[in-house]
Amino acid sequence: MRTHVGIIGAGPAGLVLAHLLQRAGIESVVLESQTRPYIEERVRAGVLEQGTVDLLNELGLGERMMRQGLMHYGVELRFGGRGHRIDFADLTGGKGVMIYAQHEVIKDLVAARLAAGGEILFEAKDVSVGGFEGERPVIRFTQNGEPMELHCDFIAGCDGFHGVCRGAIPDGVLKAYEREYPFGWLGILAEAPPASHELIYANHERGFALMSMRSPKISRLYLQCEPDEDLNKWPDARIWEEMQKRFATMDGFSLTEGPVIQKGVTGMRSFVVEPMQFGRLFLAGDSAHIVPPTGAKGLNLAVADVRVLASGLKEFYASGKRDLLNKYSEICLRRVWKVQRFSWWMTSLLHKFGADSAFDRRRQLAELDYVTSSRAAMTTLAENYVGLPLE
Ligand code: APR
Ligand code: PHB
Repeated sequence: MRTHVGIIGAGPAGLVLAHLLQRAGIESVVLESQTRPYIEERVRAGVLEQGTVDLLNELGLGERMMRQGLMHYGVELRFGGRGHRIDFADLTGGKGVMIYAQHEVIKDLVAARLAAGGEILFEAKDVSVGGFEGERPVIRFTQNGEPMELHCDFIAGCDGFHGVCRGAIPDGVLKAYEREYPFGWLGILAEAPPASHELIYANHERGFALMSMRSPKISRLYLQCEPDEDLNKWPDARIWEEMQKRFATMDGFSLTEGPVIQKGVTGMRSFVVEPMQFGRLFLAGDSAHIVPPTGAKGLNLAVADVRVLASGLKEFYASGKRDLLNKYSEICLRRVWKVQRFSWWMTSLLHKFGADSAFDRRRQLAELDYVTSSRAAMTTLAENYVGLPLE
């Protein structure tokens, strides 16, 4: 088999890249180790930056998102028993975010790609990459037990944090930067109408909590917990009781409760490798960087990477020039680090740190007070939340 760009991983990075390349008349094949139903049902975050929304619409992939997604123009920060709204539209010249689950985005991207005759090879096993130091990259894998080879001009490593591409780059090339947080998030999906029409990020002395949603009937809620929290210790009644405590306000706010339909624990880390390319292998999305989920930047950052990659590949196929491709990593990393900073900042602002001193706690509350009262500080939050401009 032969194609222009071999894409490993059918997550947001790989699938958006395939669509961007298709628009530019560049062929690609996507290899995915999981089955189609698996990637279409996997519960992940659900906040799309304004730029991601605009791109999906531009690519003709936004029809269902515009019908079923919920456009939000603000969020609430809650602390000390009071809520404070950050008005994105007012602070950013009309921008907002779309609440639309990542796996719904995946369904739309897969359906459109297959309908256009694009190739996505599901259940591709034992994937390995080679030849990218020179001019002839090759991806080896097995499908239904058969060994296969995909020859290509470039390999896009869109295979997430646990993929094979990052590790295929020779030792000594990449430098990793990492921070682990001493907590995780216990997340649930519940058949309960969200108690507020916008997201609530709560800083509480018992720990962080977040109220998000998937539709006017389904809530998505998170609680700060131990990184290795045992879900067996969290029957539904205990989860609701803890949530109610963390969201409580002076004026008697209460969450709407309902059957819990999904439960899970997510670890929290910040991670970046530099550079994000080696020869003809380019890393994009979670394969190159991870952000903690506070601020919901993972998907959006993956999309920003592949926009840069697609522009570089377009330039190459149009003119043979590699100027933009050579700068791929440099261009992406400027955004990656700003988004890392924002995700780290939101995380630090809102969570309870085990070793917090009384001083740190007071400082955190002062920062929340500042962020919710200074227009300059609110603007900083708002412009990062809706998404920084693309280069
Ligand atoms: N071969 C083929 N496919 C692989 C391999 C492999 N060896 N390893 C992983 N994959 C697939 C995974 O099954 C997954 O579908 O690569 C895909 C990677 O997708 P994501 O993990 O979604 O990563 P990315 O596209 O970079 O999107 C980042 O997704 O994980 C969330 O929080 C993250 O929102 C962020 C976004
Ligand atoms: C979600 O809806 O899953 C979500 C929302 C906001 C976040 C993280 C996750 O910061």
